[in-house]
Formats: sequence, structure tokens, C-alpha cells
Amino acid sequence: MKEMWNERYGAKEFAYGIAPNVFFKYALDKYELEGRILLPAEGEGRNALYAAQSSLEVYAFDISEEGQKKALQLAKEHHLTIDYQVGHFLKMNYAHGSFDAAALIYAHFPPHILSVYHQKIIDLLKPGALLVLEGFSTNNLPLRMENPKVGGPDKIEMLFSTESIKAEFPNFETIELEEAQVELNEGLYHQGKAKVIRFVGKKNA
Ligand SMILES: C[S@@+](CC[C@H](N)C(=O)[O-])C[C@H]1O[C@@H](n2cnc3c(N)ncnc32)[C@H](O)[C@@H]1O
Repeated sequence: MKEMWNERYGAKEFAYGIAPNVFFKYALDKYELEGRILLPAEGEGRNALYAAQSSLEVYAFDISEEGQKKALQLAKEHHLTIDYQVGHFLKMNYAHGSFDAAALIYAHFPPHILSVYHQKIIDLLKPGALLVLEGFSTNNLPLRMENPKVGGPDKIEMLFSTESIKAEFPNFETIELEEAQVELNEGLYHQGKAKVIRFVGKKNA
């Protein structure tokens, strides 16, 4: 797993581009997020860069050293600072209830570990904190078959639905939750028509 991501991010080009994910940018701008944001599985830093440009205090992590290298370089080129750790979801040592926001952008995992990861992120958020999530829908599979360049997991159990998100985050007030058909234009690996799940939730007090 880690080798695959290091190989992908070891290329010169940014796998998902350097522009932030469209929904991530929209949510940051609309809800005027402030304070400390956590970006798990952040890859090459495109969302971290935008969050830092938006004056957030950015904490990111990923299993890929190559992702970290590119993210830190990107931040440096823009004269910005981000805290980017290399590590596995369950090994990260952030303080309980210490983040004002978090974003899970295309963070897909097998179901038996996904809920554990989500629980870890929930635990790290303050009451009232916002969680932003975008990931491929279960209904993306036919589109991926037609156009593999759109990317995403090919196993239905690793994909999201509005119901699965409600079940994963029961202690959140739903601010936005929908399945959307979008035209992805994110670097080399997310290209074309896709069905995604978009969620903005507020952690209950
Ligand atoms: C599809 S990429 C998304 C990257 C980034 N969120 C973005 O949207 O540009 C999925 C990321 O999950 C990371 N990842 C996979 N397993 C992980 C784990 N156990 N802990 C932390 N990150 C992991 C990979 O290295 C990869 O960067």
C-alpha cells in the first residue's frame, strides 16, 4: 500500500494536481473555517496548501514520505508553513478534542478499518468542529468501468453512500449531505464524470 503511494507520488507531476479539491475549497470558503484543521491521508498537499492560504493552522498526515516531500516543498514555494507528519492513522499522536475542523478527501479504506479511522478523527475534533468529506459513491462503479481514468476504488465496500456517512457519523449534525455527479479534473488520476458523496457535518457538543 505505502509502496504504491510512494511510487505514485515519486513522479515529478502531482498525481491529483495542486489545486484544492473543489468541494473542500467551497466548504472552507462558505463556512469561513478558522483555527486548527486536520487533513488525514493528505497526499501531496494540495488541500493543505489551500487551507494554509486561508489562514488556517494546518496539520496533515499520510503514510507516504514522497507525499510529505512534495507537500512541504509546495508549502515552501508559497512561503507557508504546514505541519505534515508521516504515519498511519492509528499511530498519530494528536491531542483529544484539539481540532476545529478536519477534512477527509478521497480517504477510502476497507470497511473494517474505516470505522476505526473515522472514530479516531471524531475523537480529535472539538465539540462544534466541522468535518468536510468527499469521496466516491457506490454509484461511481459503472462510471469507473466506462472510464478508468476517473479513479477511485473498484470495490463497492470501499465506497460511500449518504446512508453509510450518516451511520459513520451519528453524533454529527448534518449541514450538507448529498450524492453529486461531478466532472473531476484533478491531476492525472481523477479525470472525468464521477459520482461522489459530499458531507459537511458539525460535531455535537
Ligand atoms: C486518493 S489519495 C488522496 C490524497 C489527498 N487526500 C487528496 O485528495 O489529494 C489517498 C491517500 O491515502 C493515504 N493513505 C493510505 N493508507 C493510509 C493510512 N493507513 N494512513 C494514512 N494515510 C493513508 C495514501 O498514501 C494516499 O495519499
